[in-house]
Amino acid sequence: MKDPSRARVSKRALQAAGQPISQLMAMALSNPNIISLAAGFVDNDSLPTEITKDAVNKVLTDGVDSKVALQYGSNLGDEQLRSQILRQAIEMNQTAAATLVDYNLGLEQVFITPGSNQLLFLLADTLLNPDDIILCASPSYFVFIGAIKNIGGQTLGIATDEMGIIPNSLDAALSQLDSEGKLSKVKAIYTVPYFDNPGGTTLPSERGKQILEIAKKWSREHKIYVISDEAYRMLRYQGDDTPSIHHWDPSLEHTIVAGTFSKSFSPGIRVGWGFIPQDLVGPLSDQKSNVDFGAPLLAQRIMATVLNDGHWLEHVDKLRAVYNKRRNAMLNALSDHLGTMEGCHWHEPKGGLCVWLTLPNHINTGMQGAFLKSAVAAGVVYVPGEYCFAARGEPANHSTIRLTFGVQSAERIEQGVRILSEQIKAWQ
Ligand SMILES: Cc1ncc(COP(=O)(O)O)c(C=O)c1O
Repeated sequence: MKDPSRARVSKRALQAAGQPISQLMAMALSNPNIISLAAGFVDNDSLPTEITKDAVNKVLTDGVDSKVALQYGSNLGDEQLRSQILRQAIEMNQTAAATLVDYNLGLEQVFITPGSNQLLFLLADTLLNPDDIILCASPSYFVFIGAIKNIGGQTLGIATDEMGIIPNSLDAALSQLDSEGKLSKVKAIYTVPYFDNPGGTTLPSERGKQILEIAKKWSREHKIYVISDEAYRMLRYQGDDTPSIHHWDPSLEHTIVAGTFSKSFSPGIRVGWGFIPQDLVGPLSDQKSNVDFGAPLLAQRIMATVLNDGHWLEHVDKLRAVYNKRRNAMLNALSDHLGTMEGCHWHEPKGGLCVWLTLPNHINTGMQGAFLKSAVAAGVVYVPGEYCFAARGEPANHSTIRLTFGVQSAERIEQGVRILSEQIKAWQ
C-alpha cells in the first residue's frame, strides 16, 4: 500500500528491526523491581572510574600527543595500542601453552575496532554473499547470528557439549554440505572458545586445534576461516588459561581472533581488536574505511595508557573476584532450587558471565510464550534461548534460557533464581 508519509527502508533495515534484547531491556526498565538476569551489561560498581580519569588526564596533558588523541586516526588504529595488544596476547599464549612459537605477524594484521561487534559485522559483510554459510555452535552469540542474517548469509548450528563445538559433528556437517554441493558456500566457522555466550562452555585447546584442522581439511575450494571470538578470555574464575587457536596458527593462515576490552575493562570506552589473516587485511580495511575510517582515537589512547601503566591486568584481577562470587551465587541457587528437578540442567561455566539453562521440554521459554510473561509478572526476566540458535543445522531448543550474573548482586541473583524456580515448579 502506498503511503508517502512512511520511510521506505531497505530489506536489511527491516530485518534488523526488533532485536529481542531491546524488547527485554524495555520490559526490565518498565519496572525497576524486576530482577533482570537477561542484561548483557557489566557490573556498574566495578567500572574503572579512577584508572580512566587518570589515563584521560595523562592523554590530554601530554603536549603534542594530546592534540593527536583528538584528531582522526588511522583506519587500522593506534600503532602503540596495536603492538601492546599483540604482545600481551602472544605472551599469554606462550605462557598457557608452555611452548615458544614464532608468531610471524605484521602489525597491519592487527585491527582496532570500536568494540568487537564491529569487527564481527565487518567480517560477515566482507566474507558473505547471499546464502553463504557460517558454521557456529548451537547455541551461539545471538547478535552475530542476527548480523549474518541481516547481511543475507546463513548460519548452520553444530552440536555442542559442555566443551563447546563437537569436532566430529563439525566434520560431519561439512561432509554433508560437500555432498549437497554446498561446500563452496561455507566461509567460516565461528566459535567463542572461552566461556561462551550463551552456552557457558569452554573449548579445550585440543578441540581448538581439531577445529582448525577441520577448517584446513575442508578448504578445498577456497579458504574456510576460523573466527575465534575471545570476548571473555580474561574473565576466568577456575582453572588455568589455555592458548588461543591463534597459537596453533601463529601467522594466521585460517584464524581470525576477535577481542575486546568491553568485558575486562569498560564497554563505554569500547575498544576491540582483531588479528587478521594477511589476505583479509586489504578487504577488511576497505570495508572499514566505508564505515568510520578508524575507531575513535581518544578511546584508543586511553586504553594504550591504561595498558602502559599496568592497570588493565590489576583491574581484571578485581573483576574476577567480583564475578566469581556472583557466578557461585547463581550456581548455588540453581542447585538449591532446581538440583533435583527432572528435565532441568546446566553446566558450570569456568568463567564469563552466562549460564545456559535447559528446562523440561513442555515449557516453552520463548518471547511469545506464556512462561516468559508469568516470569516477568513474578519479577524476573531472562533471554529466551530460542534467539541463540542458527537458522539451520541443530534444531532450536525452545525450552532453554540464557541467564547472566554480571549485573545483579549475589543477593538479587539468589532471589531471581528462586522466583524463576518457583515458576518452573508451577509449570510442572
Ligand atoms: C561473544 C561476544 N562477542 C562479542 C561481543 C561484543 O562486545 P563489544 O562489541 O562490546 O566488544 C559480545 C558482547 O556481549 C559477546 O558476548
